[in-house]
Amino acid sequence: MSKRKVGIWLYQNGGGDIIEAKIVAKLAERGIDTVTGLNLRHAYVENGRILCRDRKGETIVMEELDAFYSYNAGEQTQYQMYLYEALDRIVPCVNNYRSFALTEDKFQTAYLLRNHGVPTPEFRLCHRDDADRLRQFMEEWNQMVYKPTDGWGGVGLTKIDSRETLDMLMPFLNQMDLRFFYVERFVDYDKTDYRVDIVDGEYIGCYGRRAGGSDWRTNITSGGSVFLRDPEPEVIELAQRAAAVTGLEIAGVDIIYDREHEEYVVLEVNGIPAYATPEQEKEGLDFNDRKIEKVVEILDRKSAEKAL
Ligand SMILES: Nc1ncnc2c1ncn2[C@@H]1O[C@H](COP(=O)(O)OP(=O)(O)O)[C@@H](O)[C@H]1O
Ligand SMILES: [Mg+2]
Repeated sequence: MSKRKVGIWLYQNGGGDIIEAKIVAKLAERGIDTVTGLNLRHAYVENGRILCRDRKGETIVMEELDAFYSYNAGEQTQYQMYLYEALDRIVPCVNNYRSFALTEDKFQTAYLLRNHGVPTPEFRLCHRDDADRLRQFMEEWNQMVYKPTDGWGGVGLTKIDSRETLDMLMPFLNQMDLRFFYVERFVDYDKTDYRVDIVDGEYIGCYGRRAGGSDWRTNITSGGSVFLRDPEPEVIELAQRAAAVTGLEIAGVDIIYDREHEEYVVLEVNGIPAYATPEQEKEGLDFNDRKIEKVVEILDRKSAEKAL
């Protein structure tokens, strides 16, 4: 049997290049070859073959890979997603496409979590022409968050805290040519969250984020900061349940504590949770090696399945 070959597309900023080198080395220890820098952005398709240049500039036939590790949040475009979907049917992808696509959408994820008994903030969805219903939600809740279902980094989230704010917002929303409105009840929480990393069902690590200044969002891109945080067993267990429901092999589960209902709720599940950056590692976030080990295990297992 020829040597197994695993393809990788991993972000290179924030220490991603160092992580990639470690994964490549660990796979080599297991006798598995790797090809890196497989950015599907530059790929094209010839009949049943996706042809993609690797970092060395060589053309790789993606279908000949035994597994593909796709882990680059910042650069994922619709074209890449489209090829990822096709490839996943032929080559085991990590994360698997179906789960990844699910978690790219906040409504689809929250809906599924709820139906599996995983607590989330209360949410509502209605057709774009149903603005009356949106006003009715507002009357019931007093405060809500309008969320683009495919956003990240807190971008586009709008807190609506009065009927007037909603009325002011409506013309903008109508202009945006949306299919629907997705809103969540505003959760009364302490402006900190938990980001819990789960790989293959196992707890890997956790950190907290605290919103900056007067912002109510904990995202770093919204001015939030990271701090060391030891999660309660209940938080870990909730993250594991959420990850299992989504089916993600690698998941970063965002959790906050709802002070009014006195329970932890899952805000979202991330399909490409970043490894700790070199700076964060210095500050004590020490889960990278554990995570790398588990990811390598998955790639070993999945590539063996394909190679059979
Ligand atoms: N329903 C809510 N109530 C209160 N705060 C929220 C709610 N939803 C989100 N937030 C805050 O906004 C941040 C971003 O929301 P999130 O759903 O994770 O979207 P994104 O993908 O942009 O990170 C969260 O980390 C949290 O601090
Ligand atoms: Mg988030």
